[in-house]
Amino acid sequence: MCVRIFAYLNYQVPRTRKEIFETLVTGLQRLEYRGYDSAGVAVDCPKKTATDTTDNTICLVKKKGKVKALDEELYKKYSLELDEKLCTHFGLAHTRWATHGEPSAVNSHPQRSDKDNEFVVIHNGIITNYKELKEYLINKGYEFESETDTEVIPKLMKYVYDNRENRGVTFSKLVERVIKQLEGAFALVFKSRHFPGEAVATRRGSPLLIGVRSEHELQTEHIPVQYNSGELCSSFCLPLSSYTEPRWVCLYNDVIIISTHVHFLFTHSAIIEHTNKVLYMEDDDIAVVTEGRLSIHRMNRQAGEDPVRAIQTLEMEMQQIMKGNFEAFMQKEIFEQPESVVNTMRGRICFDTNKVILGGLKDHLKEIKRCRRLIMIGCGTSFHAAVATRQILEELTELPVMVELASDFLDRNTPVFRDDVCFFISQSGETADTLMALRYCKERGALTVGITNTVGSSICRETDCGVHINAGPEIGVASTKAYTSQFVALIMFALMLSEDRLSLQKRRLEIINGLKVLPELIKKVLSLDEKIKAIAQELFKQRSLLVMGRGFNYATCLEGALKIKEITYMHSEGILAGELKHGPLALIDKYMPVIMIIMRDACYVKCQNALQQVTARSGRPIILCCQDDPEVTKNAYKTIELPHTVDCLQGILSVIPLQLLSFHLAVLRGYDVSARARRRC
Ligand code: BG6
Repeated sequence: MCVRIFAYLNYQVPRTRKEIFETLVTGLQRLEYRGYDSAGVAVDCPKKTATDTTDNTICLVKKKGKVKALDEELYKKYSLELDEKLCTHFGLAHTRWATHGEPSAVNSHPQRSDKDNEFVVIHNGIITNYKELKEYLINKGYEFESETDTEVIPKLMKYVYDNRENRGVTFSKLVERVIKQLEGAFALVFKSRHFPGEAVATRRGSPLLIGVRSEHELQTEHIPVQYNSGELCSSFCLPLSSYTEPRWVCLYNDVIIISTHVHFLFTHSAIIEHTNKVLYMEDDDIAVVTEGRLSIHRMNRQAGEDPVRAIQTLEMEMQQIMKGNFEAFMQKEIFEQPESVVNTMRGRICFDTNKVILGGLKDHLKEIKRCRRLIMIGCGTSFHAAVATRQILEELTELPVMVELASDFLDRNTPVFRDDVCFFISQSGETADTLMALRYCKERGALTVGITNTVGSSICRETDCGVHINAGPEIGVASTKAYTSQFVALIMFALMLSEDRLSLQKRRLEIINGLKVLPELIKKVLSLDEKIKAIAQELFKQRSLLVMGRGFNYATCLEGALKIKEITYMHSEGILAGELKHGPLALIDKYMPVIMIIMRDACYVKCQNALQQVTARSGRPIILCCQDDPEVTKNAYKTIELPHTVDCLQGILSVIPLQLLSFHLAVLRGYDVSARARRRC
């Protein structure tokens, strides 16, 4: 899911239409690094004449391609009266990564209810029951124009609006009726010509936060949730499910006045250049802004649920989200790793006393030590961080460790017990499969531990305890510094758990000393960039690239291959060298590019055997090995020599050349690294 949403409401703060466009477009541009293929905005249309009394109407401008193309399109629309000042206005903006329907203006968002744009919506997520809803609405006479799953949402809005019981039904009530019918994951922001200047937003399984900026001090930083009492639905019930019709009942105040002269922003990730005051929405929260007042609504209060949403102050620096002199965020983040691993360790490892304390876990240590097994769950790169550290976790904790892809874990209905400890590893803290796996484990009574990079994320809030990896914002589409920081965080966990095991002290000390010099070693690996770029120049026209290794470096193969696939669109496979003889060897010949990871560790001899099998088939391996290893280099087509470190930390160093290689390959193959684009740029 690579769509991004950004909405901006200025209340009693006059802004020209041009300024509003600029805010929306820069909002999208700030988010566009994450992959997109089309973009669109919804704004209020100008009145045709000074005496025009037509209802407030909404204009949609949508364009295939980059945000820049949309920006140019906006300025071509002279009819949009760029200099007109709007005292209060609500605008929506969106970048899309096509999942349902090809990239095109009609498939891009905002999606609309009808030709008059009565309701428009931007969506991040996926509606899994959209086919049933679409069929139902088509039978009711609603016409669809796009191939998207999202379009059912504004159409459904119009349906519940057309069938409302009286004129007094509020915007938020309509939204509530709609989301009861939706299955899947969503963050949604709605705009309607029937409710000018009003904003309604909601989420389930996709992140959404609200930024608040006021020219005056906020009257409150705590928004009480308003629960509704629930009365039975009447004529406008959809037959797709039965539900109770809400009536908002305020728990505390009627509405919460934030301030006059206020700006609200709705988006999915940090918006630090606009404001550092943010409110993170919970699943099924409905946020409403009416006449500059923000209120949060929910159906029913669950046991233990916090009835207040706090407006938090972000402590992020602007420069953390700027690209600086780097070509792309991915490149910047690869080069940040000497610092990001230090930030993961900061205040947690004392190199004088060799103590490791993870503050977020220390109160649960006894429970963890007594557990039946550790289950490490994640997706993509985060899953690879679990694979990378599994062996040392088993060694130092002496517990059985399962590593699980979240989707597969759920598909299998994996048995989970009260005495299991389940780790949820996620950079964003919002990945839907990981989040669902977390809820699954919670329901079964296991202790849940989050390993996330995003403070305030869903996984962070819903786990019993956890560790923030503190890698800093990861903006590039390919996870790089988060991987090495997750790796370090999991190693620290193993070190903390083994602190009182006398027999493991030597091993612990070796690892702690390795962590101490890790930033310097990472710098040395990064200094190989030019050499890696030259290798990329040789490889970039190839169709496929195999990456082989075993033991502590198997995860590096998986992660390297994922980076190559994700960023360069080249086929790549991470292969366990021990499996070579069971099939993959058939792929090897002098034309197939192969990268082999052969480090001086317990698997060294076995890896050399694999190397012989590859060379016997005329393979020409590029070998990642330790410095000064003539035995390996003599059989290599090319080598990338890395500093040697403790076996269980070597994967942190060996993954970096593959991160750099995938970056250079993508650039050479003509892909926009920042955008995970399908097309050439
Ligand atoms: C996928 C991304 O969507 O999510 C991967 O393409 C990423 O790069 C995976 O590793 C998991 O993300 P997170 O935020 O849960 O670590």
